[in-house]
Formats: sequence, C-alpha cells, structure tokens
Amino acid sequence: MKKIAVLTSGGDAPGMNAAVRAVVRTAINQGMEVFGVVRGYNGLIRDELIPMNLRSVSDTIHRGGTVLYTARSPEFCTEEGMQKAIDTCHRHGIEGVVVIGGDGSFRGARDLSARGIPCIGLPGTIDNDISCCETTIGYDTATNTVVDMVDKLRDTSQSHDRCSVVEVMGRHAGWLAMSAGIAVGATSILVPEIPYDFEADIVNRMKATAGTGKHHFIIIVAEGVGHVEELAKKIEEATGVESRATILGHVQRGGSPTARDRILASHMANYGVHLLLQGKSNRVVALQNNQICDFDITEALNMKKPFDMDMYRMANEISI
Ligand code: F6P
Repeated sequence: MKKIAVLTSGGDAPGMNAAVRAVVRTAINQGMEVFGVVRGYNGLIRDELIPMNLRSVSDTIHRGGTVLYTARSPEFCTEEGMQKAIDTCHRHGIEGVVVIGGDGSFRGARDLSARGIPCIGLPGTIDNDISCCETTIGYDTATNTVVDMVDKLRDTSQSHDRCSVVEVMGRHAGWLAMSAGIAVGATSILVPEIPYDFEADIVNRMKATAGTGKHHFIIIVAEGVGHVEELAKKIEEATGVESRATILGHVQRGGSPTARDRILASHMANYGVHLLLQGKSNRVVALQNNQICDFDITEALNMKKPFDMDMYRMANEISI
C-alpha cells in the first residue's frame, strides 16, 4: 500500500485533529503518501484532496474541531455520489481510506470497502454511542466541557436556591448526560435509555434532598429526553423551587481535547494505519477492556451497547 487518504465525517469531535495527525505521521513513517480529504465524503465526491506532509499536521494536536473540515453527505448515500468518490480514489491511486466519525460515517466506509476501496473507521463522536467501543474520541473532552459549564451554573443556582435543568447533547444516547451528571453531582439524570417517573425520580428526590438542608438542584437531561423548558416549569410548580432551563448546545463539541482524548486518538489512528498495511479492510478500531482492538464494520454496526446500569444505579444512590 503506497497511498492512503484520511477524512473526518459527521459531527466534529475534539481529538479528531490528533487522529488525523497520527494517521499522517504513521503513514509517512511507513513510506506511504497521504492525502487529506476536505469536508468528509463530499471531498471525495468533489475531488477535494490535499497532499499531506509531516508539517501539514504541526500545531494541530491541541486544537478542537477538525482541520480537514467535516460534513454529513446525503450525496454519498446515492449510487452516483458513491461512484464519483470511487473514481476520485482511482484517479489519485488511493488504496485505502481512514474515516474518522460515528456510525453514519462507518456505513459509508462499509459501502466503500464493499466496492473495493479498503476503509478503516476510527470512532470520533462526543456521544460515545459506538456499540463496539467503550470510549470514543471526543467523549472525555465533551464530558469535561459539560462539567465545566454546569459548575458555573451551580454557582448561580446555589446563590438563588434554584433548580437548574440542563440539556446535554448525545442524540439518542445518554452516555454524555450520565458521565457529566455523575461528575457534577446531579440530583437526577434523565437518559433516553431508561424511562423516568416525574414524581419518583425528580420531585420526591428533590423534596427528600431539601429535607436534609439542600436548597439548590441540578437535573441533567439528555438531548434524547429533551423538553427542558417544560420540565423546568413542571418542577417549579410541583416543588415550589424556582427553576431555570439551560440547553448547552454546540459549545459541547468545541474546545481543546483532553490528554485522554489526544492519547486515545493517536493510538487508534496509528493502529488503524497498521491495519491497512496488513491488508485489512472494512474494520473499525475500538477500545474494549481498555485495550485497542478492531471489529468488522458490518458486525460493529449490528452490535448493541447496553447502557451502563451499574453506573446509573451508583449515580442515583449517591446523589441524594
Ligand atoms: O453526534 C454529535 C452531535 O453533537 C449530537 O450530540 C447532536 O444530536 C448532533 O450531533 C447535532 O448535529 P448538528 O451539529 O448537525 O446539529
């Protein structure tokens, strides 16, 4: 294998740049040429490729976002778009592609692999919703970002004896809400994986906590549960505690990646390039039992990631 390409796709995640950097550095060290594809699969369709050298990725390891830009590409899901992407690969002699993104990006990598362009997926998403992978690139940084912001909300919430109802990203998954909820000591954490009872899980918990002398509350709500404005109103009516809703939004996707995300991204990317060198295709790099490993993309897409009920139980037990 002499020429590969790397792209970032879907929602950006902190640590994607560290992954791109490690792909480029590993490939060049192994005697390969590397192209950076601009704006995900759209860049393959439109032939927007940049030759990368060792210095193209200097000063990027600490930067959030993605220097290659990213996009969600409906066009790539069409036969015509896919064919244009394949033509671009053939025109440049690209023999392998490293795709950094989430499930949607892996479906694209699977389809490209099936049509003869070997692809390796690296899990980059703040949602931590890749079934085969314990921790995705970006999840740790986003958790820390949420914690940082909720700590600030706590200051004002505590000063006014209020309840802060905070919506955290995660699409259909509650991982980010749970990890951040534990780290900020939330009174309740609502996630889409577990149905909740308004009286038992919010009102009674707040009342019990108030009975022990606490007068301010943080309720963390995953995006997949949503409706934080209505929830804040309902909480105020049911408990008499003045309540405010905050939707943290896209700020959660930004910021300099944590050391943990930089290391994870570097390790996964290096591993992924070595998979290509071994002639492997249609694999996704993952973390299992804290070890880097890989799975067939098709199998990985069919896997289920059970929600961590023990962590959720623990969070509830210590949050009163
Ligand atoms: O997948 C990452 C994510 O930030 C989700 O948490 C969120 O639901 C979605 O992307 C938002 O997408 P967009 O940036 O396209 O609005």
